[in-house]
Amino acid sequence: MVDANEIERAKDHFGKILEEQLKRVQAMKEDQGWTDYAKLDTIIIGVCGGDGIGPYISRSAQNVLESLLADEIKSGKVEIRQIDGLTIENRVKAMKAIPDDVLAELKKCHVILKGPTTTPKKGDPWPNIESANVAMRRELDLFANVRPVKVPEIGVDWVFFRENTEGSYVLGSQGVNVNDDLAIDFCVATTQGTERLIRLAFEHARKNGIDKVSIVTKANVVKTTDGKFLSIAAEVAKDYPEIKWDDWFIDIMTAKLIDPYRRKEFRVIALPNLYGDILTDEAAQIQGGVGTAGSANIGKRYAMFEAIHGSAPRMVEEGRAQYADPSSMIKAAAMLLGHIGTWTRARSWRWPSRSAPSMRRPRS
Ligand code: IPM
Ligand code: MG
Repeated sequence: MVDANEIERAKDHFGKILEEQLKRVQAMKEDQGWTDYAKLDTIIIGVCGGDGIGPYISRSAQNVLESLLADEIKSGKVEIRQIDGLTIENRVKAMKAIPDDVLAELKKCHVILKGPTTTPKKGDPWPNIESANVAMRRELDLFANVRPVKVPEIGVDWVFFRENTEGSYVLGSQGVNVNDDLAIDFCVATTQGTERLIRLAFEHARKNGIDKVSIVTKANVVKTTDGKFLSIAAEVAKDYPEIKWDDWFIDIMTAKLIDPYRRKEFRVIALPNLYGDILTDEAAQIQGGVGTAGSANIGKRYAMFEAIHGSAPRMVEEGRAQYADPSSMIKAAAMLLGHIGTWTRARSWRWPSRSAPSMRRPRS
């Protein structure tokens, strides 16, 4: 029998979600533009060690930053600030993905270097609180997760632009158990959220002389949200006539990343959140493993840089945390340098967002 109360409860919940998401759309429409790091008296870089191997590999990356930015730190142009408290113990104590005091400290920084944090799931020794990564991306509106993967010997030179504040992630902790038998999750795509991500991907291609952007969805099945992603991509592409673009479904794309001929054609790849999560682990594996891959989480006001992998609790249990490979975090630090405009120090990573375009008026 259908229980009308159960349905009403679920509808209430859905109604609240719609209100929140429409407010988010409004905020995106009122968006203020990009931070200009050159205009700041002091650029504050917050460093959060995180959990597990996080504090070890973050320390190595911080050493690199301190050494490369020694002049700027001395002159006061850059401050590196330790942000404590983003640990699983603290998060569980506050029963929050990011405790309020930590979030307040993070918001006083301009950019953040973040070590991996434990993400609990049902059945873990920790309560099943929301991921700190997901919460930080949402709270600081870090809409583009940029993940480069490069293996010159086999002709691989990819930059993934993973949508970072929508898709199946944004409400991943807010699904409903309508009753014991029926669970529903939500997947979100907005015009503004999709457009800003795709535009950033095309801008990256243009500024770096790359003539190809690939869009990845499952729009043949997930027709509403992925369908929107793809149709917005087609619109945005019209503003970049010099760039070829194509679209792939996520299933065949996972295969093509290991096709030695086809994969050489991919350069900039833009895709929704969950597909981006999965495909970038595969891509990183081709580069030598997730431990080799760094990433940038870019928003207009804030930006956060991190490894693409987790906190490796097994290494800690086995007493090997101090030997964890810090390459991923050092790469993240290089992307941070590029982002704040210390180009020569970042060398290999040219980053476009300081002159990123203002977003077009939303289509009516
Ligand atoms: C990543 C990670 C995170 C994600 C986890 C830790 C929540 O896998 O950054 O790719 O799924 O985004
Ligand atoms: Mg991942």
